[in-house]
Amino acid sequence: MIGRAVMDLGLRDTVALIVGGASGIGWASAQAFAAEGAKVVIADLNGETAADRAASLPQAWSRRVDVTSEDDIQALFAAVIEREGRLDSVVSCAGIGHLGAIRDIELADWQNVIDICLTGSFLVMKHAARVMTGGGSIVNIASLNARQTAAGYGVYSAAKRGLTALAEVAALELAADGVRVNTISPGLIDTPLTNTLRAIPGVQEEFTDNTPLRRNGRPEDIAATALFLCSSMADWTTGDTLDVNGGGHLQRYPNVMAAAAALTPEEFEKLQSL
Ligand code: NAI
Repeated sequence: MIGRAVMDLGLRDTVALIVGGASGIGWASAQAFAAEGAKVVIADLNGETAADRAASLPQAWSRRVDVTSEDDIQALFAAVIEREGRLDSVVSCAGIGHLGAIRDIELADWQNVIDICLTGSFLVMKHAARVMTGGGSIVNIASLNARQTAAGYGVYSAAKRGLTALAEVAALELAADGVRVNTISPGLIDTPLTNTLRAIPGVQEEFTDNTPLRRNGRPEDIAATALFLCSSMADWTTGDTLDVNGGGHLQRYPNVMAAAAALTPEEFEKLQSL
């Protein structure tokens, strides 16, 4: 867990909203903000886990939201302002993966990934912008796949690259309000999202070979970057995308599709829930 603060990041008694905060990168971020003395709101589709997570932190509460529902997101931001009177940091983490060749992607799967990863992030930024008129920081989580494409990543890359562009526009539009908008593009992180991916024979080895720092990321690696971006240390940073991936963006993305081709159709089917 992050939190052995070596310097004051200026986040004590600020309010941080972590969307998609019940698991993985979002949960690590929630813990990191809490360790800095921030009040934390965990919003997630998985309301039960979000509530359990919040109960384990000081000064935290949770709310079930579906980021594809504008009503949910609008009500979430209204609740934060009503309860806390302010909102300083937003980490927008909700996301799902998808692996499949363009010729095979079902429209419903395409739509689902776009809805959650791109439209959901849009809705979070839109409603954050409406309430954070006194300044603050918004951090979006994109992906290494936003800049580094690979066969099988059609919809995921499209959604994540779209998100980085949208975040740049938001940075321009919200600067006058003192709101900074940045994006983190993580490489492979050990979270439930990538359990299946990492289980495909050969894939983990290829990721390690293509990562100069030769290890997967930990959720805490991304949480630390989110903390930095929301702290006063990043006061002059906006509209940026930080590649946090052990140097993986300098090399090539593993050929996950080739590795998956060695699997049976039944095994491949499981990949759809990556
Ligand atoms: P995770 O699966 O551990 O956590 C994602 C969270 O988002 C879950 O708690 C889930 O309930 C929530 N969520 C999903 N759909 C939602 C919806 N419609 N409304 C509200 N919440 C929803 O995944 P992880 O790895 O922590 O991913 C977080 C973000 O980081 C995602 O956007 C993902 O695309 C991105 N990312 C992850 C990488 C990895 O290797 N794990 C690499 C690059 C990017």
